[in-house]
Amino acid sequence: MKTTAIISRLMETAIAAQKHAYCPYSRYRVGAAVLTESGRIFAGANVENASYGLSICAERVAIFNAAARNERTLKAVCIVASAAKPCGACRQVMMEFATKDTVLYLIDLNNATGRRRVTKTTVFKMLPAAFDPIASGLLPPNPRNLLRAK
Ligand code: THU
Repeated sequence: MKTTAIISRLMETAIAAQKHAYCPYSRYRVGAAVLTESGRIFAGANVENASYGLSICAERVAIFNAAARNERTLKAVCIVASAAKPCGACRQVMMEFATKDTVLYLIDLNNATGRRRVTKTTVFKMLPAAFDPIASGLLPPNPRNLLRAK
């Protein structure tokens, strides 16, 4: 499959996932999808809780879904919301499984009009000066780690 077709599948998966958000408290629906190194796509949506702090973002649901299936390298991540931007916690979680090339697509979707605005960036750009345990000598080098590219 061509890259453009794969990326549009990734985006459509994230848009479909947004509909499954469980967000009775914020009413802010977020959908996410990740494309892993093997070419598989995993979806996620935000899932809130009456104890607000236990809520989890869509990005983390998608990434943990992939990681729990042994899919630990992200080629691309897509987030859909009105004014989609990953929170700081999700940026750190993305870094765990990202490479320098992991692409991030932010889709600003207006559900009333159907208008979409797509911003393309990278996980590394979204989290400059990230916590780097290997460079800090806290962990032995791991070939699957994002820091191998440094
Ligand atoms: N949320 C996400 O799912 N992803 C983000 O990037 C930002 C925030 C969720 C968490 C909560 O359910 C709701 O949006 C409002 O903060």
